[in-house]
Amino acid sequence: MKKHITLLPGDGIGPEIVAAAKKVLDVINERYDYEFTSEEQDIGGIAIDKTGNPLPEETIKACENSDAILLGAVGGPKWANQSVRPEQGLLKIRKHFNLFANLRPVTIFDALESSSPLKKEIVQGSDLMIVRELTGGLYFGQPSERRDNGKSVIDSLTYTRDEIERIVKIGFDTAMLRDKHLTSVDKANVLESSRMWREIVDEIGKEYPEVTVSHVLVDAAAMKLITNPKSFDVIVTENLFGDILSDEASVITGSLGVLPSASLNQDNFGLYEPIHGSAPDIAGLGKANPIGMILSVGMMLKYSFNLESEAAKIEEAVNKVLNDGYVTADLMSDDGQVLSTMEMTDKIISYL
Ligand code: NAI
Ligand code: MG
Repeated sequence: MKKHITLLPGDGIGPEIVAAAKKVLDVINERYDYEFTSEEQDIGGIAIDKTGNPLPEETIKACENSDAILLGAVGGPKWANQSVRPEQGLLKIRKHFNLFANLRPVTIFDALESSSPLKKEIVQGSDLMIVRELTGGLYFGQPSERRDNGKSVIDSLTYTRDEIERIVKIGFDTAMLRDKHLTSVDKANVLESSRMWREIVDEIGKEYPEVTVSHVLVDAAAMKLITNPKSFDVIVTENLFGDILSDEASVITGSLGVLPSASLNQDNFGLYEPIHGSAPDIAGLGKANPIGMILSVGMMLKYSFNLESEAAKIEEAVNKVLNDGYVTADLMSDDGQVLSTMEMTDKIISYL
């Protein structure tokens, strides 16, 4: 199998974790006799510094000519107060490739049950998937601007029926492959967009009689997610709610650093990235946890290349490393051995 992958390291810890991903890809090449080639391109702050554009044309071209994209993270204090910001590059690439379906699995590794600040009984056995709409809603709605000389401001929450239908279908399809329970999260007591969302979920639900559906308001869902995470199987929700809930869900697993994500379009072309940001507070220190990034490589193998068993091997290797007591600094551990980004990567590779 021959595949070409564009690597977008980005900012902060991005380059460190993408180097880890590249190492894992190289090993998979060797072990399985695949031909995964890759090239690095700029996105985010580093791209602004070089070209003034957070998503240069050259980067888009390279991504268009590849089979998948692996991204580290973008952003940082250096660019926070500029009108051109790194995050615009990320929003633009999601939109350009129509990556509307963001899949965020939240799996608790046995060894990390005590890394969570939540009680062990609460997190033990949690396993859920957040399906977040990624190219609509507040993050893309127009107008979005300051008005009246800064005396007022507007952001717009817009969705088309098609946009809601396609992500809700992914939610149901995902539930069918899991425990067949779909929780649709909205704010239908206040927002018209949420009322329409809810109607569409009920309509499409008729095509999936085996799936049980719950509608939960986002504020209640936020509470339930950390008081009873086991009550969830698949969550489907709009862009902003999904962004917030998935960071919250990382508390269940003990660290933002272990969670991967896939952002897919209709043809399963995908961008894969850990859910965390560029962690400027630890950038360059070799402390970044590479697990979220490495599991994102696993998701790429599974969703874009149909290599399910190889993806499972990566998960197994991560699981084993953690079970054997190895951690990175972000994971609370009383007796674990703390490894650097590259040491953790090499350890995972040695178990592959
Ligand atoms: P963050 O996710 O970068 O960091 C939050 C906390 O988690 C920090 O204490 C950080 O050190 C820690 N952390 C995150 N990932 C880690 C890892 N792999 N290993 C160990 N510790 C880790 O969120 P923050 O600080 O709010 O944002 C920093 C920058 O990242 C901002 O510019 C923000 O806009 C950007 N950002 C980018 C995203 C992306 O590229 N997809 C997503 C979220 C934020
Ligand atoms: Mg986020």
